[in-house]
Amino acid sequence: MSDRVIIFDTTLRDGEQALSASLNPEEKLKIALALEELGVDVMEVGFPISSPGDFSAVNTIAKTVKNSCVCGLARAVDKDIIACAEALKPAENFRIHTFIATSDIHLQTKLHKTFDEVCEMAVHSIKLAKNYTDNVEFSCEDAGRTSVDNLCVIIEKAIAAGATTINIPDTVGYNLPNEFGAKIRGIIERVPNIDKCVLSVHCHNDLGMATANSIVAVENGARQIECAMNGLGERAGNCSLEEVVMVMKTRSDFLHTETGINTRKIYRTSQLVSKICNVPVAQNKAIVGQNAFSHSSGIHQDGFLKNSQTYEIITPESIGLNQSTLHMTSRSGRHVIKSRMESMGYKDGSYDLDKLYARFLKLADKKGQVFDYDLEALLFFSELEKNEDYYKLDYLSVLSGGSVLATASVRMDVGGKKICEAATGNGPVDAVYQCILRITGVDAKIYSFEIKAGGQGKDALGEVDIIVDYEGRKFHGMGLATDIIESSARALVHAINSIECAKIIQEKKEQGELPAGAAAVN
Ligand code: KIV
Ligand code: ZN
Repeated sequence: MSDRVIIFDTTLRDGEQALSASLNPEEKLKIALALEELGVDVMEVGFPISSPGDFSAVNTIAKTVKNSCVCGLARAVDKDIIACAEALKPAENFRIHTFIATSDIHLQTKLHKTFDEVCEMAVHSIKLAKNYTDNVEFSCEDAGRTSVDNLCVIIEKAIAAGATTINIPDTVGYNLPNEFGAKIRGIIERVPNIDKCVLSVHCHNDLGMATANSIVAVENGARQIECAMNGLGERAGNCSLEEVVMVMKTRSDFLHTETGINTRKIYRTSQLVSKICNVPVAQNKAIVGQNAFSHSSGIHQDGFLKNSQTYEIITPESIGLNQSTLHMTSRSGRHVIKSRMESMGYKDGSYDLDKLYARFLKLADKKGQVFDYDLEALLFFSELEKNEDYYKLDYLSVLSGGSVLATASVRMDVGGKKICEAATGNGPVDAVYQCILRITGVDAKIYSFEIKAGGQGKDALGEVDIIVDYEGRKFHGMGLATDIIESSARALVHAINSIECAKIIQEKKEQGELPAGAAAVN
């Protein structure tokens, strides 16, 4: 049996059908091109009969994608199959995926059909699809709750009718890993013509077992996994592409299987899908979450610095990230501070680590997370103590809403001098940001912008956290106010003051007033 597992991506079908707003053809094409680069073997890109928009998206992708097989979904109904074939026609390599439910509950309450009638419909649809392509997949919807006896009957007929891939969906994420593994093994052992097809699985995550069930299916002989980027899909989602791929890569010692995925493209594909679909990735999501390669506890950070493998089983580089992150919080130990100082050029022994660490802890308690520029500021504390914020927000007024072009006027105190600016923008925050950037003359680019409510109800404070990029370095700013435009303005002013502080340190170093890369904490 081949060790190669086919990765069938359904982000643009099962994933897309679960979004609160459907994607337009251009958005779907962007994702399809990223999936092609990622190296998916098959991409299921829509359900052509479902809407003219979906038909057109499938058709556009079929015309453009060259290196992955493009697949469309069709119920076991003639008009679905004909529309699917029509949409896929321009593709160099396409697959028609037809399905019908096989579990008792679906037969009795949804389809009102007998099992024999369903078998006939399946056979008829597969034969019809074969007129358009040799590459036909058949799925027994709700196979997870269908008896193995019935599955064996319909699968044998489907293969005899020409299906080249047989898919076993655990449609409602009901199966336990051992149970699902035994089902796959049972099918392989009992269906006489099973060697004429590839056996596939499609697991939903209702009980959080989609990845485990897919992997156990592979252990029992399945050779295609249906999955979606970031685990998107109906309800709790589909099996995550990034998880199954990284399981097979990381545990190849045990599974002896491989995929054709270029894992270094995983992170950027995940980010693209998240942005286009407007579904944020949970911070603690396996593989692609913001915390997947960041270490917080002092003990973990210490172990990681001694040998990254103490707390990391996969490298960030393997999914296309630059490096792991060690958050500097009040839980961080001295070794992290030392290591971060070293990376900024401050040699061990050239400053008083104990004093710096004591100041760091105070700041971390106050601020939550400390950044490298904060450390540098702490190092030269006595110099900077005298520098109160150079930029202060003094007054702010905004006109926006409906058809009005957002317009802001801002007055700031800049080193004791009042300066005003007015600007228009793409919305009130943008207009205010234009004013602040003009007043300060700081060429900062907004890298991330997050808004959340501090407190409950209508009196909640709006908290804005931003990260700005200034000459390749990231600076953080936080603003809190009852008005979210004001919080946004305060966050930017905070970040710009940190930039100012870093600039002063840099200038003093260049003028020899502060030691470059070697200093003592006063
Ligand atoms: O979950 C499911 O059963 C499906 C089928 C259409 C494969 O998405
Ligand atoms: Zn599904």
